[in-house]
Amino acid sequence: MRPIVIYILVISSICFKINAFSMTKHTGNKAFEDYPQKATTPSRDLLAVLDTKVSTGERPKSKSIPQKCSKPEHIIRNEGDMKQLEDCTTIEGDIVVDGYTDTVLDFGATKHVWGDIKVQNSSNVARVEGLELERIGGSSSFLFLTALSTIRLPRLKTMQSINWQVLPILSSVSFNSEVSSLETIIISDTALTHFTGFDTQSLNVLNINNNRYMELVESDVEEITGELSITSNAKNVQINLPNLKNAKNITVRDAESVDLRNLKNVEVSAGFIENSFKELHLPKLQHVGGTFGIMKNDMVQILDFPELSEIEGGLIIANNTRIQSISFFPELKGIGGAIRFEGEFSDIQLEELQVVRGSALVRTSSGTFDCNNWLKFGASSIVRGGVIECFSNKHSQTIHVNEEGRVVKNITDINSFSSKSNAANLKYSLFSLFMALLMIPGL
Ligand SMILES: *[C@@H]1O[C@H](CO)[C@@H](O)[C@H](O)[C@H]1NC(C)=O
Ligand SMILES: *[C@@H]1O[C@H](CO)[C@@H](O)[C@H](O)[C@H]1NC(C)=O
Ligand SMILES: *[C@@H]1O[C@H](CO)[C@@H](O)[C@H](O)[C@H]1NC(C)=O
Ligand SMILES: *[C@@H]1O[C@H](CO)[C@@H](O)[C@H](O)[C@H]1NC(C)=O
Repeated sequence: MRPIVIYILVISSICFKINAFSMTKHTGNKAFEDYPQKATTPSRDLLAVLDTKVSTGERPKSKSIPQKCSKPEHIIRNEGDMKQLEDCTTIEGDIVVDGYTDTVLDFGATKHVWGDIKVQNSSNVARVEGLELERIGGSSSFLFLTALSTIRLPRLKTMQSINWQVLPILSSVSFNSEVSSLETIIISDTALTHFTGFDTQSLNVLNINNNRYMELVESDVEEITGELSITSNAKNVQINLPNLKNAKNITVRDAESVDLRNLKNVEVSAGFIENSFKELHLPKLQHVGGTFGIMKNDMVQILDFPELSEIEGGLIIANNTRIQSISFFPELKGIGGAIRFEGEFSDIQLEELQVVRGSALVRTSSGTFDCNNWLKFGASSIVRGGVIECFSNKHSQTIHVNEEGRVVKNITDINSFSSKSNAANLKYSLFSLFMALLMIPGL
């Protein structure tokens, strides 16, 4: 793999590419091998002319475009329809391919499509090809194409969004040149294995989900102003977004490793759920504008948020079964919502915490955690949301505090958990009794 990757980098200064190494070894990187000899930069003059038109917001005058190339919507049903547009260097309007009956969708000599390209509901399409295509004014939207395995757009330079969903055998994508202007990337239910190497500073959406062979998601993006969601891909997926500083709403699920080393601010919420990583470090994170949740990460042993000082929503640390101590928020001063800590931890240390505006729930199966201690140590003076509940193996206690932090109700049940384990013990002894009876010969 390595020589091929280097080769591509050298030949065609890639800013954006999706390395879609096929699942089966023998087809390998074919998509990349097919094109490198072709000149990757088309005539500079032409590009310059087009670039000025774009930057001044002007589209080419319709009169310079043959009429058949300019319609609000070009509906394509088969190769014949496509051939009609073959000699349109520029197409105005959207191209909508729906119920396409042939297997190859070829954009022929078309270089510029000012609108969107939508290909949908065409279960025969195996290949989408636009060898000359340089610019898609809007989005490339490929939806529900169950036979699509290859997309080749080797000269594409500009497109606003990628919306690829339910392309279950799509395994090969080639963008052999630099693609800029991307705002939205949604890739869902494909057979792509890698999503790497693009160099977009700011995105609105990055959503990569249910790609069951996707092992690497990597980007230099610095800001994601909408949703960042990477969920349900290959079990061993690595997520590398080392330059990301600002994000709005992060959801990471089923990841084996996460690199967000520069993440400083989350505008709304961040959730890390059911991942298999062993460590999660967010060394620069300072502020979360909404809820921060770390749930059901069975393997995680190290959580590290050394600079996080404010969470404006709730804080949920739940069911990360290997976490022994909630002591990874050394700078956390305020929580705007509720806290919910569940798991097997035996210790909570939140030394800087001054206020929790919501309520608090602590539930641990640890035998050594002492609710009394935790409540005494200050929970009742920090939590302003009315109710503090604490359940441990030793003890269960619910206290109600008023807004000044004064205890107004105190319900203590010293043996709540042991009564449960008594029930279990009872079952066990009945079972042993039963076994014992069975073993008495003659009964
Ligand atoms: C999909 O294409 C088929 C065949 O052309 C057509 O019968 C069907 O109505 C289309 N479905 C949608 C949702 O467009
Ligand atoms: C954040 O993202 C999750 C999952 O993508 C979504 O369900 C939720 O509504 C989003 N929240 C906000 C405030 O955008
Ligand atoms: C944690 O696990 C317990 C027991 O399985 C469950 O009742 C609880 O809802 C879980 N908490 C979260 C936040 O998922
Ligand atoms: C609640 O009541 C228990 C038992 O009466 C007592 O030990 C504990 O200190 C009380 N807790 C608070 C926070 O008042």
